Amino acid sequence: MEKVKVLFVCLGNICRSPMAEGLFLHLIGKEGVSDKFEVDSAGTAGYHVGELADRRMRETAQSHGVHLPSRARKFVKEDLENFDYVLPMDGSNLRNIESLMSPNRDHHAQVILMRNFDPKPEDGNVPDPYYGGASGFENVYEILLRSNQQFLDQIKQDHSI
Ligand code: 4NP
Repeated sequence: MEKVKVLFVCLGNICRSPMAEGLFLHLIGKEGVSDKFEVDSAGTAGYHVGELADRRMRETAQSHGVHLPSRARKFVKEDLENFDYVLPMDGSNLRNIESLMSPNRDHHAQVILMRNFDPKPEDGNVPDPYYGGASGFENVYEILLRSNQQFLDQIKQDHSI
């Protein structure tokens, strides 16, 4: 079976989407289904290309036993053909992705807001922790843990994994 290809997207690709990627890798590892997936993350802005995830996000992840392997890269429109699922962290990221879509053309990827999978979606956005305090990073972890668990359960069901 072909691997299911999942891409998490935020603005800078140093806080939210690296956490989403690392957590998803962690969950599929725990469930013994790592070989069924290809996982990556990207940012719609290029400010931090090549960087590791923000130290505060890496420390939050580490405190929960989660490793963040990501190096920031910019989202490109080809990602819409190369991935099955593209999961933006907030509505602004979603609009940035949509601005790269060709009119009158279908794209391969299903583009779905991450918090559509959150049992407690609040306003539907994963809040950007970059300019806030430490509690913002823990909050992002908790949101992404809930959302990713539900996303993984659904994907396993839909793809008979
Ligand atoms: P992220 O957070 O989109 O979750 O990676 C941000 C990181 C950096 C910036 C904005 C958001 N920035 O403006 O540099």
